Amino acid sequence: SQNWVLMVTAQTPTNIAVIKYWGKRDETLILPVNDSISVTLDPKHLCTTTTVAVSPSFQQDRMWLNGKEISLSGGRYQNCLREIRSRACDVEDKKRGIKILKEDWGKLHLHIASYNNFPTAAGLASSAAGLACLVFALAKLMNVKEDESQLSAIARQGSGSACRSLYGGFVKWIMGKEENGSDSLAVQLADEKHWDDLVIVIAVVSARQKETSSTSGMRDTVETSLLLQHRAKEIVPKRILQMEEAIKNRDFASFARLTCTDSNQFHAVCLDTCPPIFYMNDTSHKIISIVEKWNRSEETPQVAYTFDAGPNAVLIARNRQTAALLIQRLLYYFPPNSDDLDSYIIGDKSILQD
Ligand code: PMV
Repeated sequence: SQNWVLMVTAQTPTNIAVIKYWGKRDETLILPVNDSISVTLDPKHLCTTTTVAVSPSFQQDRMWLNGKEISLSGGRYQNCLREIRSRACDVEDKKRGIKILKEDWGKLHLHIASYNNFPTAAGLASSAAGLACLVFALAKLMNVKEDESQLSAIARQGSGSACRSLYGGFVKWIMGKEENGSDSLAVQLADEKHWDDLVIVIAVVSARQKETSSTSGMRDTVETSLLLQHRAKEIVPKRILQMEEAIKNRDFASFARLTCTDSNQFHAVCLDTCPPIFYMNDTSHKIISIVEKWNRSEETPQVAYTFDAGPNAVLIARNRQTAALLIQRLLYYFPPNSDDLDSYIIGDKSILQD
């Protein structure tokens, strides 16, 4: 019969880099110019939910993002679909009498429905959660036997930062040496329980879509910024080792210093691009000043900040008490009727419930 549908639903959180990925050495395979390290958020707050379905009655591959149909013709989706299909295995649902043989997957079409519970393409790493979730759900549907690291190398070909969302906790994307990208994949440095004092608060400065996509921004930076060459060769390799050490020892002072410095250098590299790229705005700068001033007034840093390809602040507080103080301060500087902030998203455990 042609009437059956087989489906799988998966949920994947987004991740925020504390040592940034910016710049590709190979655009097709998405191979970066440096290693990066990220923290994966709690799926409760920023995540993608994706359902993938297969049926002999489907006429073509189709995808809906937040309820609106989008084209699957882009390279990022095609790469992931191709790589997963080539690893598909036999699938059997005995109860319903459905059997899909390995070789049938090439002939069957897919329908994909994906939802983000946060603003899409506003520099909140929506593509990271989205592509990681797509790859994970497809791998489950098609009974792909690869482990998370192998799946991360596939997700990488959809969106670089997506490779880091296959794991929880702290994750490193190893840039790799191979030309074919086989060793450019993510590994988990520590799981989500390792350092669970940390609380992530996201101040959504603007939920609008960013003006410069990371793809075109990175291309311009690689082509024009000398600072990027220096960063990738001389700075990041050492910083990665220091960050791994800070995470291992739960050393918040080092963690915060490295996170803030690396975010600032990433934005400096954007400014060093021709034409220059501005992702942060006045509100972002004001948040940096507030945090810097606070950290300097204490014996040891209380909060780390980091900004991706947009103006939104990702703030990492050393513990719940600090996070509560942080929110108090944000509310003081940006009262609820302020035009400067669209909203707050409280990552990890919701401290506002207390
Ligand atoms: O994976 P992309 O193409 O969305 O690039 C992400 C780049 C940053 O978010 C700015 C940094 C990072 O490492 O996630």
